[in-house]
Amino acid sequence: MKDKRLERERRGDHMDLGNNERRMLKSMLSAPSRNWNLKELLDSTGWGDQVHVAGAGKSLYEQGLVEISETSTRTVNLAFEGHKAASEELLEDRIWQWMQNADEGERSMQGLFAAGFERHEAGPGIGLLKSLGIKIEDGSFVFSNASEVSEVIAKRSEFIEKLSQEPISEDELDSELVSHFAGRKNLISIEETTSRTWTLTNKGSGVKSSDLGEIEQIGQLTPEILQGESWREAEFKPFDVNAPAPTPAGGRPHPMLALIERIRSVFLEMGFSEIEGNYVQSAGWNMDALFIPQSHPARTMQDTFYLSEPNKVQVSPEMLDLWASVHEHGHDTGSRGWGAKFDKEEAQKALLRTHTTVNTVRHIAENPDEPCRVFGIGRVFRQETIDRTHLPEFHQIEGIIHEPDANLPMLISTLKTFYAKMGYPDVRVRPAYFPYTEPSVEIEVFWRGQWLELGGSGIFRPEVTEPLGTEWPVCAWGMGLERLAMLVLELDDIRELYQPDLERLQDMPIL
Ligand code: PHE
Repeated sequence: MKDKRLERERRGDHMDLGNNERRMLKSMLSAPSRNWNLKELLDSTGWGDQVHVAGAGKSLYEQGLVEISETSTRTVNLAFEGHKAASEELLEDRIWQWMQNADEGERSMQGLFAAGFERHEAGPGIGLLKSLGIKIEDGSFVFSNASEVSEVIAKRSEFIEKLSQEPISEDELDSELVSHFAGRKNLISIEETTSRTWTLTNKGSGVKSSDLGEIEQIGQLTPEILQGESWREAEFKPFDVNAPAPTPAGGRPHPMLALIERIRSVFLEMGFSEIEGNYVQSAGWNMDALFIPQSHPARTMQDTFYLSEPNKVQVSPEMLDLWASVHEHGHDTGSRGWGAKFDKEEAQKALLRTHTTVNTVRHIAENPDEPCRVFGIGRVFRQETIDRTHLPEFHQIEGIIHEPDANLPMLISTLKTFYAKMGYPDVRVRPAYFPYTEPSVEIEVFWRGQWLELGGSGIFRPEVTEPLGTEWPVCAWGMGLERLAMLVLELDDIRELYQPDLERLQDMPIL
């Protein structure tokens, strides 16, 4: 095997080059002083895959035969909303055209809706125009700088139009417009690309083309080759463990499932048992049991999903009587209650649970005489407008310690231990308010220089525990799982968790 190499060395062909390196070097020698870019090298070598150029270029570089220079460029592309704007015109442009043509009396929000603009467009659209100097006076839109507004909008439209032809390098664009559009949602995306050029060094240009004939090397041993004898004489292609290669993409659990598993094992490790409950609950168990007054704003249709089928979930008459008595005058709890008349029909309305605290109170009601430490991780539902940090369906991590000596320091140290085990040792608590706990505390975690609120907790009030049939104190907490996921998975938009973007999910940290 060595003989052929020695033979080549004797011929003066002393470089330890593989066929790819030989081919690339030979191509470059056809124009020895050129800075070759990728496309030129692909054309000249006849390769279809840039991996060959990158690999051969790197080993030529290591042997001092070529120089590689890298430049990175930022290219601006239209994103989803940008393409929409290119075909339908920018939102502010459409509203501005309407505003200029509308009669003075129609220049109002109602006028805007009457002209066919949707609610989700009107708010942001008017916001954009306000920042251009348009004002709202007595409900009407007024402006005094029409030509300026038109000019700015025309520039923006021209920018979008230009990008709809093809992506453009950032330095060829107006930087103010780039940063303006970068601040708006999904209009443009900026892609960073690195491009390389390859140039021969003096040593490289000194190589003779005639020494660069391709050699016969065995790249891969096959059973056929091994059956014969020829391999004994053959030359083997050396392995390059540093050569660029695609990263294999195997299967992995969804990051959210992995996180839930990890939280589960932390609580199990801390001696807690897991409980579960149904999504569909009565308003009574979800709220009245927690001494949330029946007039509480969060109980309205704006916040809570009430069901039409079933529209009622029966609650035992004894429970309804107890809650009525606690809410109306405090029962035997020493409290004065809320005073208002308790509506038992209201308490039997069916809803999608708005928090997992319903599971822990029901657990106490079913096991009033058994001390316990339990937790649950479950989905909850609230009528939230979807944005970067809110979803109408999300998850909570809930738990209680129900035992004769339960107390606040025990609660706080339990939560601190939990967060420390999750990798967040800096935790603080602050006074808070919930209708069902006293004292109530908010839990905050220190992350990247700031305190983030992750959940609520406290000791259940007697108005909650007495009707459940226990006299022991109950430490209780409920924390947002998606909030925690944002820290652990380093996200700044929780929607990314539930979008089927495999590439994005693939890139999230493995827990
Ligand atoms: N249920 C509260 C929430 O949804 C959290 C909480 C649970 C607060 C238990 C105190 C005690 O935000």
